[in-house]
Amino acid sequence: MADANRDTRASQRDLVRRGYDAISRAYRNDEGRTDAETEDGTERYKGWVDELAQLIPPPARVLDLGCGAGVPATKLMTDKGFDVLGLDISAVQIERARRIVPTATFQQADMVTWEHEPASFDAVVSFYALIHVPLEDQRNLLPKIRSWLRPAGYLLAIVGAERRTGVEDYYGPRCSGTTPTEPRTSFGSPRLGSCLSGTASCPRAALVTRW
Ligand SMILES: C[S@@+](CC[C@H](N)C(=O)[O-])C[C@H]1O[C@@H](n2cnc3c(N)ncnc32)[C@H](O)[C@@H]1O
Repeated sequence: MADANRDTRASQRDLVRRGYDAISRAYRNDEGRTDAETEDGTERYKGWVDELAQLIPPPARVLDLGCGAGVPATKLMTDKGFDVLGLDISAVQIERARRIVPTATFQQADMVTWEHEPASFDAVVSFYALIHVPLEDQRNLLPKIRSWLRPAGYLLAIVGAERRTGVEDYYGPRCSGTTPTEPRTSFGSPRLGSCLSGTASCPRAALVTRW
């Protein structure tokens, strides 16, 4: 049966791509920090990477799906000795990642349509990226992720806990005392990008799976 919604989902993913092209630097600086302390502070990533290293010791090969600008996760993993391929749909994110983490390898691609040979990675990680992928695409993607993993490989991912579809203006990282859609006073122009789309799912849950 023809997939009637395929074009719609492709345009949703493209909206996310344009959004991250626009907000890359506002989302994280070159050190991987947002300007505000959030619950998803960079310390949390360090804990995840430490945990991963206990499960699969470096120099294991890791795929970082939706790696952003390579910070903090790709850099932390590379510094730890992992052999990391970072993949992101945004050309701006990938251009920054190549500069910030020159020892990792990066590809600009849509994880939904990306093809790769099977059994190539010891682990796949995806931090806050699957949540941007339309749910039907996530369903199709998970078996592909599994195929990219070597036997007994790990998937470490932030996944959505409930369905949510929305497109919001992005004014920079959340500050205490503000809601995500209120402008941050430190920016000259509050409107940094209007294309950040949560097309799939919202509140986050951490998932670790061994396949
Ligand atoms: C919230 S950011 C997280 C970036 C990084 N993982 C981090 O934790 O800082 C989401 C990233 O996922 C990327 N992304 C979203 N949809 C994607 C897709 N379909 N394929 C590849 N990357 C995607 C975005 O471009 C963006 O860089």
